[in-house]
Amino acid sequence: MSPNDIRPASGTLGVLTPGMGAVATTFYAGVIAARRGVADPIGSLTQMGHIRLGKRTEGRNPLISDLVPLASLDDIVFGGWDPISDNAYEAARRAGVLTNEHLDAIGDELRAIEPMTAVFSHDWVKLLEGVDHVKTGESTMDLAEQVIADIERFRTEHGCDRLVMVWCGSTEAYHPASEVHQSLESFEQGLRDSDPAIAPSQVYAYAALKTGTPYANGAPNVSADFPAMLELAAQTGTPIAGKDFKTGQTLVKTILAPGLKARLLGVSGWFSTNILGNRDGEVLDDPESFKSKEITKAGVLDQILQPDLYPSLYGDMYHKIRINYYPPRGDNKEGWDNIDIFGWMGYPMQIKVDFLAKDSILAAPIVLDLALFMDLAGRTGQSGVQEWLSFYFKSPQTAPELYPENDLFIQLIKLKNTLRHWAGEDLITHLGTEYYEK
Ligand SMILES: NC(=O)c1ccc[n+]([C@@H]2O[C@H](COP(=O)([O-])OP(=O)(O)OC[C@H]3O[C@@H](n4cnc5c(N)ncnc54)[C@H](O)[C@@H]3O)[C@@H](O)[C@H]2O)c1
Repeated sequence: MSPNDIRPASGTLGVLTPGMGAVATTFYAGVIAARRGVADPIGSLTQMGHIRLGKRTEGRNPLISDLVPLASLDDIVFGGWDPISDNAYEAARRAGVLTNEHLDAIGDELRAIEPMTAVFSHDWVKLLEGVDHVKTGESTMDLAEQVIADIERFRTEHGCDRLVMVWCGSTEAYHPASEVHQSLESFEQGLRDSDPAIAPSQVYAYAALKTGTPYANGAPNVSADFPAMLELAAQTGTPIAGKDFKTGQTLVKTILAPGLKARLLGVSGWFSTNILGNRDGEVLDDPESFKSKEITKAGVLDQILQPDLYPSLYGDMYHKIRINYYPPRGDNKEGWDNIDIFGWMGYPMQIKVDFLAKDSILAAPIVLDLALFMDLAGRTGQSGVQEWLSFYFKSPQTAPELYPENDLFIQLIKLKNTLRHWAGEDLITHLGTEYYEK
């Protein structure tokens, strides 16, 4: 491929977020602050990341945004849906992530972002209070058509050249894909029949893919990761990616675990616990929502450590994850990890990690990067699962026959090689024999 095969990023990009809570509003605020020059987009690969090209002797390290055509922050407009009618300024104040000083400086733009009425059901998110802004309709298909109409209205009103959707809504109850999810035909029949197995997030994903809008899922619930959505994505030529933003504790886990594995240090136990007091924490206090989260968090270590290949090192590892809702902390999560490891001749050691994190501060740059990279994927002619974006997810979506790659460093190599490939540059294998050939 060459950069000439990629459609230019000119015109307005609409970024739509079902869910306008802590993560979404911190994302909007950070982008607005960055384009006004009052804050740096720290943590964002698309804004700050460089990429090495060619041989180490060439000294070519452009910004990623100079290698591939990405939408400019100035060309982004925001839209969203929420079952709570607060505008983005009010929602951000309530979330309590950013200071009033930061929010008031950009309050005019945030106030103008009003949520569209949501597709919502308490059957899927039990512990959400203050719900006052929900669509009604004759069937779930009717609701899906209303979301499609919202998308088209937004496109016209804001003169958007392209759109992307990133799910930033609450974590829904855990329900694996069922019969209705197995084909597009059965899913559409299920929408017409208002099948209770169809989650609200799936209605947004359906509307996105129907309208050719790339869809990324930032939460752990089943949303676009089932056969009907893969079929629809292929039919409309639309990229999908997911799921569950990799921030906080799982980010640290996928940094540490590859290091321990690389040195063949054994792990007998990994106990992870969190306290957090934001609305996300409140929703995750419901065991059904927590179940969705537990599944995406738990798979990471097994895949990285490969206990089947290394039974004496990782075969008996005890892995436990706890999330505790603790209101005084708000968005300031504390995540503890106690890791029991063992080394030479089986001698035990311990590692303790205490991460005083701000959840939404870690998630906001991921939303931005996903929005820009999913838009790039669309302009590059990609459709279906974008595995090269695994870097951003706790539970990366892959082709059905593949296991996901969770090692953060392999994920980064994959992401950068994808960009090099699209830009017509040599892939970097790190072999390096050429430097020693006479
Ligand atoms: N912050 C992180 O580090 C992080 C990491 C991974 C995943 N996530 C996930 O991202 C999501 C957002 O997190 P948050 O901290 O912003 O939570 P939040 O509770 O502050 O915001 C979620 C918003 O989604 C809205 N919502 C619920 N159901 C909806 C629906 N059907 N349609 C539209 N809106 C809906 C809620 O009213 C709320 O305003 C959660 O699912 C969370 O688990 C967050």
